[in-house]
Amino acid sequence: MTHILAIDQGTTSSRAILFDETMTPAHVAQQEFTQHYPASGWVEHDAEEIWDSVLATCKEVLGKSDDVAAIGITNQRETTLVWDKTTGAPIHNAIVWQDRRTAEFCDDLRAEGFEAEITTRTGLLADPYFSGTKLRWLLENVEGARARAAAGELLFGTIDSFLIWRLTGGKVHATDATNAARTMLYNIREGAWDETICTRLGIPMSMLPEVKDCAADFGTARIEGGEIPIRGVAGDQQAATIGQACFEPGMLKSTYGTGCFALLNTGDDLVTSRNRLLGTIAYQFDGKPTYALEGSIFIAGAVVQWLRDGLGIIAKAADTHPLAEKADPNVELYLVPAFTGLGAPHWDSQARGAIFGLTRNAGPAEFARAALESVGFQTRDLLEAMKADWDGAADGVLRVDGGMSASDWAMQFLSDILGAPVDRPKVLETTALGAAWLAGMSVGLYPDRDGFAANWALERRFEPQMDADTRDRRYAGWQDAIGRTRSR
Ligand code: G3P
Repeated sequence: MTHILAIDQGTTSSRAILFDETMTPAHVAQQEFTQHYPASGWVEHDAEEIWDSVLATCKEVLGKSDDVAAIGITNQRETTLVWDKTTGAPIHNAIVWQDRRTAEFCDDLRAEGFEAEITTRTGLLADPYFSGTKLRWLLENVEGARARAAAGELLFGTIDSFLIWRLTGGKVHATDATNAARTMLYNIREGAWDETICTRLGIPMSMLPEVKDCAADFGTARIEGGEIPIRGVAGDQQAATIGQACFEPGMLKSTYGTGCFALLNTGDDLVTSRNRLLGTIAYQFDGKPTYALEGSIFIAGAVVQWLRDGLGIIAKAADTHPLAEKADPNVELYLVPAFTGLGAPHWDSQARGAIFGLTRNAGPAEFARAALESVGFQTRDLLEAMKADWDGAADGVLRVDGGMSASDWAMQFLSDILGAPVDRPKVLETTALGAAWLAGMSVGLYPDRDGFAANWALERRFEPQMDADTRDRRYAGWQDAIGRTRSR
């Protein structure tokens, strides 16, 4: 057996990537699927469409090799699904992590002082981002759902869990510790579903999946008559942390997709953030979790999409940095892309985007530069919060991946504004690689953790070139802009 199949089920597309015995991506298939916006602030996915896209992409790459030893799954986290235990049919569209429909209920939880319970038990905040309140919404709002759940007829899962269920023909209802950690229902200290929270939210614990290590036996997938064991599962940001080989406490990665997610390995320390970062599980092996501090920014690459689709000043994403390079250095614009509110460390869902410093000679080039800079500034906000929260987060190196990490300009600015080195690896498919390695290591095809870490290869290191005064002045300008954008 020479190949590992990684399934990367993301927010906008499903991908299947076949890795060869040297852990190099050999074949990739990708399919986008529909985003449903049934009301303002609501985002849904049709689980059948997701399933079809996963199956089609898997079949496409499996057509290139019949020598596949195992499957690793990685997925958009928090997205919430309930399906019928007997038929496998979802009772409603999946409610996507971006969906804000439970904001009011989260306000109620905060008002009654329940957020402290949530943070202590799960590391998270009372925010609609996580699965718990979305699951409650489904039980409250889909006709008959509560009674059927109580009767044991319905199952809950994040997308990994649903895919495992479908791939194994309904034999396995399981998830891994990293995905469980994002539900707001899982006690990450005790490593068990949390009865107090489930009771408060009215969630029958019988509908929750079994929680396993990231490298474990998740059953056997049957695709086109073939049988392949599923041996690795991790939420996509955790898979990227693994793919970046951030295995030592203090190691840090940041992934730039639509949003940006930074994870700092804190080892055995479950850090309770004083700066509204999230405590979470980075990965779990042999029943032992390794913790992380996570900062989530909702708009990173999406700001470039806005330049293209909203403002119409670029034709494609790659046009952004050549345009930014033409910007007048004397015009200092600050663009705060709070299009859907602000994520960590502000968590201000009412804030909306703003731009400061407009002068008559501000034009497309200055907007493009401000957009790319906003990603660097927001990352610094996260890293400042991490340093304030945990002594081990000194000025280390930041490992980057995801679409925007391909931009030399954006990565140089990031290093400049952080005042720290930024490392870009050779393999930018870190999320899929993380999932593939979990599965490949689990079946003995790939090296152990140390061997994998030794295999991580640097493509380019960006060193800070900005002088300290400019860095401080620019960051102070950003903080002022954030202060003026916040709703409270
Ligand atoms: O927490 C949400 C995150 O897992 C989504 O990642 O890459 O699918 O946008 P992505």
